[in-house]
Amino acid sequence: MHEEPDFFILGKAYITGRVVNAAIGISGEKIVSLTSPGNIPPSARRREYGDGFLVVPGMVDIHVHMREPGLEYKEDWRTGSMAAVKGGVTFVADMPNNKPPANNCNILREKLERAKRKSIVDYAFYAGFNIRPEELSKCKDLYIGGKIYPEDLYSPIVEEFARLIASQNKILVVHAEDPILLKPDAKILHSIARPPKAEKSAVKKTLELALQTGARTHITHISLADSIIEILKAKIAGHPVTLDTAPHYFLLNDSLYTTSRKNIAKVNPPLRSEKDRQTLYIAVNKMLVDAIVTDHAPHLLEEKLGENPPSGFPGLEVALHLLLREILEGRMPIQVLDLYSFRPASLLGINKGCISIGCDADLVVLRKESWEVRPDEFVSKAKYSPFEGAVLRTKTHAVFLRGRTVYEEGEFYEDVRGKFYPLEAPTSYETLQDR
Ligand code: NCD
Ligand code: ZN
Ligand code: ZN
Repeated sequence: MHEEPDFFILGKAYITGRVVNAAIGISGEKIVSLTSPGNIPPSARRREYGDGFLVVPGMVDIHVHMREPGLEYKEDWRTGSMAAVKGGVTFVADMPNNKPPANNCNILREKLERAKRKSIVDYAFYAGFNIRPEELSKCKDLYIGGKIYPEDLYSPIVEEFARLIASQNKILVVHAEDPILLKPDAKILHSIARPPKAEKSAVKKTLELALQTGARTHITHISLADSIIEILKAKIAGHPVTLDTAPHYFLLNDSLYTTSRKNIAKVNPPLRSEKDRQTLYIAVNKMLVDAIVTDHAPHLLEEKLGENPPSGFPGLEVALHLLLREILEGRMPIQVLDLYSFRPASLLGINKGCISIGCDADLVVLRKESWEVRPDEFVSKAKYSPFEGAVLRTKTHAVFLRGRTVYEEGEFYEDVRGKFYPLEAPTSYETLQDR
């Protein structure tokens, strides 16, 4: 079957591991052909991008906080999805730590209503831990996976929750920090209050949980290369475990906690020592992580500058461009883009983050342009960043979401709406890994 494309996107493109000159044929919402620009009929409709542009797949961020319902003052689906688009991200998976938590069908339904009305990127939800896991089996189409926070790790019900998620062939996402090893003292450095041993202990506990329950387990925002080694060992032993990390863990270090930016840079898990940062950077470079996420965790600047600031900062507007800086300055292979697109998409079983026939036509056109990160210009409600002042080399020029223009030269096409992605059934973990 070869559908006639409605139009082509022409230019240099990152396609399955290489940069080539391509004509990407799009019909409806899908990529239907890939050829060289000389091969398309002269009369074909086209968008052509010349020197200084690069087409990449829409990025896939499987760990963000859009904050609805309950915390809309920090972010909402409109501002959060605009931040995503501006950062070249076309799919987000939203976390359940809402107010009240999204650990039941009613709140998940409400989340869907809200996202449907406002989101300009595609999306999915995780269900939060519930001490009555069976409550969640009534609406299993509303979530793509289950999420466990540190405080849930010691619940007597945690195994039951993991088994429920496993029985639904979904992914169990874990924030691994052992609550027993955290010191709730605002006066000590954040990196000392939440030490490396807390992550290591929770990783161990999570691997045991994965082993006992058979749940396909994904440990998120790993901050230490030591954790990666533990998880790799379990992987090699045949356990279905995967992990991600975030740009701040391999680009920043805990020296920020002794500067005026300490509240801005406060995040869980914390930034680590320079030595740890370097080892993690190597692990990412060697593609030893399964995914990169932002953990886009917006709060208001006022909250971050106040007494007892909350942990987390926004990341969607800078993550892809930070990776591109590393790539263009020769420190990372271009294939790290897969870690923020195709690989996480595979983990969730969605046909995104790829420029191949049959993939959703989510495409990001990048333009070479040097700019400085100025958080007061963010579209996110969270107008601060530990990357403030960083000089980046690329900007998002245009974004296509399933074939439709959603952003071009600074303008959002707000009539476009994102689509809700439940797990495409039935996909086995093994075949996804092989794709
Ligand atoms: C997150 C948040 O603000 O929701 N904060 C953070 O520091 N990462 C929560 C989380 O992801 O653990
Ligand atoms: Zn977390
Ligand atoms: Zn988070």
